Amino acid sequence: MKPIEEYVRSIPDFPEQGIIFRDVTSVLQDADGLHLAVDLMQGKLDGVEFDVIVGPESRGFIFGVPIAYNLHKPFIPIRKKGKLPCETVSIRYDLEYGTAELEVHRDAIKEGQKVVIIDDLIATGGTNEAMIKLVEGLGGEVVKTVFLMELSGLEGRKRLKGYDVESVIAYP
Ligand code: PRP
Ligand code: ADE
Repeated sequence: MKPIEEYVRSIPDFPEQGIIFRDVTSVLQDADGLHLAVDLMQGKLDGVEFDVIVGPESRGFIFGVPIAYNLHKPFIPIRKKGKLPCETVSIRYDLEYGTAELEVHRDAIKEGQKVVIIDDLIATGGTNEAMIKLVEGLGGEVVKTVFLMELSGLEGRKRLKGYDVESVIAYP
């Protein structure tokens, strides 16, 4: 099997000039790449005690669900605005390109639950910071965040100061 880095395709100037897009689809479309990515991300949770996994639409779902399934934990989807049918809490935030709004069902996380956040990639950290606010607003405690990819140059970790953040691949 190749190292995980070699499964990621990088596309310059997508979706905007100056952005190097780290394409997760090239990992997923290879059975070995998918296995390796899930296993390496899941390995970051060895010895971590937690109750639920939370992941954002869309790409957070891709890795959050298999890891939750493997570890027999619930998975809480954090969705883009207007998709969830029951009472929600929501938050607006900035992205590397543009802004967005995320929502979670109010009853999805219980007071005192220990939460792990899973996503494919951290760029500015805005998505993760927003998810942390949603989780904490519902009384959850974020015990760890795991990413497949980290764009270190965008310093997303600075926004997540004080939290346990790990990534499998770090780009400069
Ligand atoms: C991407 C990615 C992360 C987020 C990272 O999702 O999957 O969730 O951006 O960027 P940030 O650290 O600057 O917040 P996107 O919002 O593009 O949605 P998608 O998963 O539906 O493509
Ligand atoms: N999400 C935000 N920035 C990204 C990038 N550079 N590549 C892939 N996904 C992203």
